[in-house]
Amino acid sequence: MKLFSRFTPLQIAIHLYAWSALAWIIFQWVTGTFSINPIQELEQRTGRHAITLLALSLTCTPINTIFKWTEPLKRRRTLGLYAFLYATVHVIIFADLDYGLAWSLIAETVLQKPYIIAGALTFLLLIPLALTSFDVWKKRLGKNWKRLHKLVYLIAPLAVLHFAWSKKGDLFSLSGDIIRPLIYGLVIGIFLLLRIPAIRKALASFSPRRLILLPRKSQQPKADAP
Ligand code: HEM
Repeated sequence: MKLFSRFTPLQIAIHLYAWSALAWIIFQWVTGTFSINPIQELEQRTGRHAITLLALSLTCTPINTIFKWTEPLKRRRTLGLYAFLYATVHVIIFADLDYGLAWSLIAETVLQKPYIIAGALTFLLLIPLALTSFDVWKKRLGKNWKRLHKLVYLIAPLAVLHFAWSKKGDLFSLSGDIIRPLIYGLVIGIFLLLRIPAIRKALASFSPRRLILLPRKSQQPKADAP
């Protein structure tokens, strides 16, 4: 199994999870087991998978800060690109399957429905991040790369807003199917907070590793003299 030895368990888990949604969709399509509204189901599933992958990409930095585990930092790009892939599939389903590429009708819907405007903005902002996620661009853009990628602080809340709004619920009276978007909002909000440099610094000094690991060299008991 040379192929598997080339990948770490985390890489395998990420690829399996990312493709699982598409595999499930294909399975249901082949076996004809979609719900009575397959287009809406496809839109919702690809949208949820996109926002989940986006949320997962935000966990990498806090996991590294808290556990000093460096591998998640190397997987941020993969998770982000998968989020973009599913967002693109989501938009294609909307424009093609749902609206039959009737551009004037699509433009009308986008302008009429605020939750679609939020979704479209999220998608448009994701494009430069996905395109510049490669090392060549990181080198080319230098300091501006970091600045550009701070857009994620806008993108993630916008995606949550699009999610919550699409449910036609009311955040204040907690009516409608608002619980799921609320949970996503809370989790994403926490991950974004944990990325703020001051909070990161504080977290790093409280990292569980410091509590669990052996005492520092200076505090270690000396070996017994022979
Ligand atoms: C041009 C861009 C976009 C359009 C036109 C669009 C359109 C839609 C539509 C029509 C729905 C289904 C509403 C329903 O009938 O229940 C939906 C739901 C959703 N979209 Fe988007 N979307 C866009 C971008 C995005 C992006 C970029 C993300 C995430 C990164 C996203 C995440 C979601 C989520 C999480 C849902 C709700 C799924 C659920 O009901 O469980 N969308 N979107």
